[in-house]
Amino acid sequence: MPAQVISGKEVAAQIRRELKSEVEQLTGKGIQPGLAVILVGDDPASHSYVKGKEKASIELGFYSEIHRLEASVSEENVLALISKLNGDPKIHGILVQLPLPGHISEKKVIQAINPDKDVDGFHPENVGNMYIGLPAFLPCTPHGVIQMLKRSDVDIKGKHAVVLGRSNIVGKPMAQLLLAEDATVTICHSRTIDLPAITRQADILIAAVGKAGMVTADMVKPGAVVIDVGVNRVEGKLVGDCQFDEVSRVASLITPVPGGVGPMTITMLMYNTVESAKRSLN
Ligand code: GUN
Repeated sequence: MPAQVISGKEVAAQIRRELKSEVEQLTGKGIQPGLAVILVGDDPASHSYVKGKEKASIELGFYSEIHRLEASVSEENVLALISKLNGDPKIHGILVQLPLPGHISEKKVIQAINPDKDVDGFHPENVGNMYIGLPAFLPCTPHGVIQMLKRSDVDIKGKHAVVLGRSNIVGKPMAQLLLAEDATVTICHSRTIDLPAITRQADILIAAVGKAGMVTADMVKPGAVVIDVGVNRVEGKLVGDCQFDEVSRVASLITPVPGGVGPMTITMLMYNTVESAKRSLN
């Protein structure tokens, strides 16, 4: 039987409906969630992601600011803008779209954001809090994956989850969030010896390497849940890290690309911004 497809669009729409009602309640109390996005340079993919964030913000009734800066802007000017936004009470969330041009330090920029407004969950304070189970803004993509699993009634507890990829944005926090859900977690990466032998043990397989179609059917245990985080452009078409057609004949549940994890990332950013605005009530 072919795998059931988890629609990220549907799960995202469900969460956005929940958020919309929270935004209405907050606005009734005089607090409109505010999100500021800083975009440096003219990378077309980044521009498209930022457009998506702006559209979602407006649809949910947020206050939205997009700061589009020239690629040649100095690091000092970016840090000064972050400092201004840190002190702006209209703004509950600040996101600096990555990657940044080479002359601007991502590390410095991330650390300059007030952790209470770090809706990306990239600041070391939020990363540390997440690791020890303290309240934190969770990084949007891995948090979105957890939401998709839970809302598709996937039982995570005790299962062997294999994460392919070890990036700071997806792989590492993904493994940690699965561990927090009581999965037994293995992280694989480009240096892993005999990768298929490990992926074949996965009850839940998360592919987050950014290599088009690298996960083939023979790497997947029959009945596994496969989440494809990959976003790769091949001949102008978006494809994931999995060979969708063949893997979906082996898996029990699978996410498509596009329309899988992608819509969840923006939704969890909106979720974090609402959480931040809620904190300002206290
Ligand atoms: N670039 C690619 N993904 C992300 C993300 O989740 N947040 C930010 N700020 N930049 C990104």
